[in-house]
Amino acid sequence: MRDHLYLFIFMFHFSTDCIVSDMDQTIVITGYTGGSVVLPCSCADPQSTATTFIWEFQQQNRWFPVFEDVKYSGRRVLFNESSPTNLSLLISDLRMDDQGYYGCKTEANRITYVDLKVKGCDLVENRRTVVVTGYSGESVALPCSCTELLAKPQQIQWMYLIENTYKEIYPNEQTENYKNRVKLLNPNTPGNLSLHISALTTEDQGHYQCFVSSQQVVGFRLTVLHAEEKPHVHTATLTTHQASHQTQDSTTSQLKLTPQHVSQNVFILLGVFFSVLLLLLLAFILWRCRGGRNDKKVTTDGEELKREQDNQDDVMYSAVVHVKKASTPAHTHNGPVELTEYAPINIKR
Ligand SMILES: *[C@@H]1O[C@H](CO)[C@@H](O)[C@H](O)[C@H]1NC(C)=O
Ligand SMILES: *[C@@H]1O[C@H](CO)[C@@H](O)[C@H](O)[C@H]1NC(C)=O
Ligand SMILES: *[C@@H]1O[C@H](CO)[C@@H](O)[C@H](O)[C@H]1NC(C)=O
Repeated sequence: MRDHLYLFIFMFHFSTDCIVSDMDQTIVITGYTGGSVVLPCSCADPQSTATTFIWEFQQQNRWFPVFEDVKYSGRRVLFNESSPTNLSLLISDLRMDDQGYYGCKTEANRITYVDLKVKGCDLVENRRTVVVTGYSGESVALPCSCTELLAKPQQIQWMYLIENTYKEIYPNEQTENYKNRVKLLNPNTPGNLSLHISALTTEDQGHYQCFVSSQQVVGFRLTVLHAEEKPHVHTATLTTHQASHQTQDSTTSQLKLTPQHVSQNVFILLGVFFSVLLLLLLAFILWRCRGGRNDKKVTTDGEELKREQDNQDDVMYSAVVHVKKASTPAHTHNGPVELTEYAPINIKR
């Protein structure tokens, strides 16, 4: 019923009817202020053609044709005017009030809906005052940016407070003082509004404003000091740099050495351990050998045997006495007989 009210401005006369590909569906498209968007609409069948179609937008629950509205004058074009099936709409230089519902209608009331979201510039430090220090003869940057760096504010003004009123210093220099000394720090990023002031003088000290709208303002308090008052940043950075390097070096060398130290210590400990073990083993073997020989000797010495065996653990042979004797006449042996006597020492513990 409502459709009859519309005057179809763009009329295409082709052979078959166009049925839009996303019929009765809503496509969400996000754009940024100052940027552009393509609202998609095309015929489902590439062979078909749109005889009549219209782009509308919704406002206060009513639909208005886009191409008739002055709001869009110079900002909207058909994405491809020579394409009979691609009815997409291009809107450039987006504004906040472009946000809303759009409909692409063909004959027989086939509609694709587009929900266009437009993201604007909200200043990061909105309604705060940022304190900045500069030095005379040098330059300074006053940082100001939108939360969405792709969003370009509809307007941007940098102001300086003179005699209780803010005077524009960028983009239009209302005060001679700032001529050719101010520029945007990063003009390629739409949402980066930081101001660069060069050749600072103490007269530049004071209050500044990054002004996007009456709701979006960031204040600045700039202090300009004499260059001599500047702390020796260079030396400081150099020292910290060196210091950090040193610490890093020592850390790395420690890190390198530590495993070596550990392995060295382990080897030393193992060496000592095995040496002690070897010595103990040797001592044990020696003792066993001596003990064995002693046992033999003692067996001849009948009465000593028991005592020896009983006290085996506690006995140490401290001295070995060699006695050379002339052969006793009872023995048939000739020549000296070597007799070994052990002097047992009992150790009671
Ligand atoms: C526009 O559509 C025509 C026909 O479909 C096509 O040949 C041409 O490449 C399109 N142009 C652009 C910029 O997409
Ligand atoms: C129509 O043009 C838009 C914009 O580039 C593109 O995204 C879409 O794929 C095109 N549709 C068809 C059916 O070619
Ligand atoms: C704005 O641009 C300047 C210069 O390129 C950069 O130093 C700064 O970080 C940018 N700010 C943001 C918020 O990206």
